[in-house]
Amino acid sequence: MKQFIAALPKVELHLHIEGTLEPELMFALAERNGIKLPYADVAALRAAYDFHNLQSFLDLYYQGAAVLQTEQDFFDLTWAYLSRCQAQHVVHTELFFDPQTHLSRGIEMGTVIRGISRALDQAQTQWGISSCLILCFLRHLSQEDALATLEAALPYLDKIQGVGLDSSELGNPPSKFSEVFARASALGLKAVAHAGEEGPASYIWEALDQLKVCRIDHGVRSVDDPRLIARLAEEQIPLTVCPLSNTRLKVFDKMADHNLLQLLDQDVCVTVNSDDPAYFGGYLQENFEALARDLKASREQLRQLALNGVQASWLPVSRKKTLI
Ligand code: HPA
Ligand code: ZN
Repeated sequence: MKQFIAALPKVELHLHIEGTLEPELMFALAERNGIKLPYADVAALRAAYDFHNLQSFLDLYYQGAAVLQTEQDFFDLTWAYLSRCQAQHVVHTELFFDPQTHLSRGIEMGTVIRGISRALDQAQTQWGISSCLILCFLRHLSQEDALATLEAALPYLDKIQGVGLDSSELGNPPSKFSEVFARASALGLKAVAHAGEEGPASYIWEALDQLKVCRIDHGVRSVDDPRLIARLAEEQIPLTVCPLSNTRLKVFDKMADHNLLQLLDQDVCVTVNSDDPAYFGGYLQENFEALARDLKASREQLRQLALNGVQASWLPVSRKKTLI
């Protein structure tokens, strides 16, 4: 089964580049930038990755991102992730970055985007791995802050294909960001949003109807609303589901409880993704393996999930055809 999964051409649609910061690289960058981490060593840091919900993870994730300071740091981070893509036969990736996490520390937008894009360009040239870049707004901050962030990204719009919405979901509904998503759409950017990870199914409706997103990130709470499931299936609105993330953040107690195959059975366009692999114990290969092992997903189901990833991507139709 491992070999079968490894041989599938895979596409990743829900990946936070800051969430690929492995403890070893975090320590190396901390040393390079003269930052003292509040952990004795890599083992102590890994031991702290014991989360009980989304917020307990986000607190560590934002703390870890503070070691990223220079353009080279963002390049090294992105290059390390793309090397994993190459090793795992991930042929296309659409990745998120969280500029507000960096702008608030005095890092410039250009530093972040140039570092990430240089690695993306090099992976395309060297390995043929294609990519899109998605600027995420932090939903625990205000819409004004999001608007200012989009404004700061204007000189780099040629390097960004879409906007997203992430961070603490409960109490921060998509409707809070309708204006900034309308502005992004007017600029020609595509849109996605995290919804229905910890938040209710109503947040998924809001993301679709008010933010006009073309995919829902996570979306596993859609099963609470049969009308929503019918719409997702009818309109083939993709869900970018992240199995290891969902179990590590206790969205489901254990992998055997995950509803991914239930969603697939209901004709929803479910895709498999790794979210924050350095924190949740695995990249795309390990997420697929967990489905085979703990949900007893068949080869046919795994192939369908991989194909859904291709279909749900922003690749041109001509390239999709070569991957299907
Ligand atoms: N949910 C919300 N915000 C995030 C996540 C997530 O899974 N990962 C990184 N930021
Ligand atoms: Zn996410």
